[in-house]
Amino acid sequence: MHKKYIREKDTKTEGGKMIVTVANEKGGVGKTFVAINLADAIASKGERVLLVDLDPQSNLTMRTLEKVLTEHHIGHVLAGREKITSIIHTVRVYDSGGEVHIAPSKPDLAFMQDEIARRWMGTNLLRKVLNPLERVYSTIIIDTPPMTSIFQLMALQAADVVLPVVSPDLNSVEGVIALAKHYKGGTGFDFWGNVPLVVLNKANKRLSMLKKVRSLLDELKVEYIEVPQRSAVSRLHEEGLSLFDSNSKAVLDVVRAFYKIASRIRGV
Ligand SMILES: Nc1ncnc2c1ncn2[C@@H]1O[C@H](COP(=O)(O)OP(=O)(O)OP(=O)(O)O)[C@@H](O)[C@H]1O
Ligand SMILES: [Mg+2]
Repeated sequence: MHKKYIREKDTKTEGGKMIVTVANEKGGVGKTFVAINLADAIASKGERVLLVDLDPQSNLTMRTLEKVLTEHHIGHVLAGREKITSIIHTVRVYDSGGEVHIAPSKPDLAFMQDEIARRWMGTNLLRKVLNPLERVYSTIIIDTPPMTSIFQLMALQAADVVLPVVSPDLNSVEGVIALAKHYKGGTGFDFWGNVPLVVLNKANKRLSMLKKVRSLLDELKVEYIEVPQRSAVSRLHEEGLSLFDSNSKAVLDVVRAFYKIASRIRGV
């Protein structure tokens, strides 16, 4: 039924530097959760990873930093008023030497849309802004807001890899299909061609809907990796702690799932 979205297995994504954009038109599926844990999984292997919060809700920023030390954020960089290097904060340093950094957001990013849109016109503004950092970080992971906005579109345009996140809810898969369709009508960006896999998050085996979502993903012929739903994970996540530093058995299968995703898309 969704044949036109069928794609061949992607091979170009292994190794090399890259920008990964986490996306879904639907809210609450775990985009921010996946962005943080994927960054931690890659960094715990010794890599330097930058998180970019492109969501005015600023959940990624709030979950990774105790407080944002400067008033400037990614919006000021996109508006041409600040350099990207002046807004970056360190989130975590691992014994392996890996680090997670973040370019934060604040709620007033929402009110900067018009100003940023004027500079964006006809350019790949976010990619240009991130360009000097591609030598500093092995991976840049962009968290996006739900619902169409210039921030969501800019982040997709800048991506080498699009990482859709869905949950056991058919609407969350429809949200990805809608996003792909919407983008196709725009700049000709090949959405599915940049998707190496889909993250099926909050995969609670007791939910009958999980089977239906798996079938729909199979129908789309897209590879997917499941991340289990664990309340212990949610607690650590909300306290801003890394699952990859935790000895808790309750989070082991989640950690394993993120190592699998990191290995599949970054080869670490
Ligand atoms: N695998 C999981 N197990 C348990 N809780 C989870 C899991 N994934 C996400 N959550 C929780 O679900 C809630 C929503 O997750 P998150 O904020 O990452 O979603 P989102 O897609 O970024 O939402 P939004 O669209 O509003 O940006 C959070 O409280 C998060 O801690
Ligand atoms: Mg979010």
